[in-house]
Amino acid sequence: MFFSIEMGYKDKLDKDNIPEHVAIIMDGNGRWATEKGQMRLVGHATGVESVRESLTAASEINVKFLTLYAFSTENWNRPKEEVDGLMDLLVNTISNEIESLNNNDVRLLTIGNTPDLPDSCRNELLNAIKRTEKNKGTVLVLALNYSAKNEIKQAIKRIAEEYKSGDIELDDIDDELVENHLYTAGIPDPELMIRTSGEIRISNFLLWQLAYSELHFTSVFWPDFKKEDFYRAIYEYQTRERRFGLIGEQLNELDKND
Ligand code: FPP
Repeated sequence: MFFSIEMGYKDKLDKDNIPEHVAIIMDGNGRWATEKGQMRLVGHATGVESVRESLTAASEINVKFLTLYAFSTENWNRPKEEVDGLMDLLVNTISNEIESLNNNDVRLLTIGNTPDLPDSCRNELLNAIKRTEKNKGTVLVLALNYSAKNEIKQAIKRIAEEYKSGDIELDDIDDELVENHLYTAGIPDPELMIRTSGEIRISNFLLWQLAYSELHFTSVFWPDFKKEDFYRAIYEYQTRERRFGLIGEQLNELDKND
């Protein structure tokens, strides 16, 4: 009998071209739940499993940084019941998962205006960040109470203060200096950004950092996003040519000189 074993996307990946940083806008939890006649919070709770899937997939192929857009500053405008439910879900998930993060050598970091999160959430996050700080595997970066415009504004304000006090001169303001004032200081820019649910927007996410990123949009709702979807996004990323404003011939020359 003849049969073929279908190769999954993971096996097709070029191990020498794995992105160092993948960022994800996890979207479609509400629509997923509504389609099933469930409360929106059921979508968010089911979405936690997709967080696990993506994190495991990222660890397995040695993606160093995985950034997830978990709560935007705009999300506060949702009905109170949903906001409270999301905060509870975050606190419970983080406290339940610390052991598993440590077992898998995952380090947790956050970006965003986390000091303004509710005390319970902030404390749980600080605890998890501390307890995972020595881990050397994938870094899970949660964007919480995050707005890219606010991130850039606070960077500009701090840079202006440093200029005013004479610590820096105008000519010191270059890419590196700006980057050192973003929430993501020390984290490389994502090579790939994935957004689920069919929306084709950036939605105030990592506006500076995504300048040269490849963008992958899938119609899959976040709760249905599995490891295979993650590997597929990486596979498609690997088939693209990243130009950084150069022409193809110049890239070939660079490759030759590597
Ligand atoms: C977007 O779907 C999703 C969110 C605003 C929250 C994402 C949160 C989780 C997956 C759970 C907790 C995460 C962690 C990291 C523990 P949406 O509500 O905007 O969906 P819709 O566009 O269909 O309404």
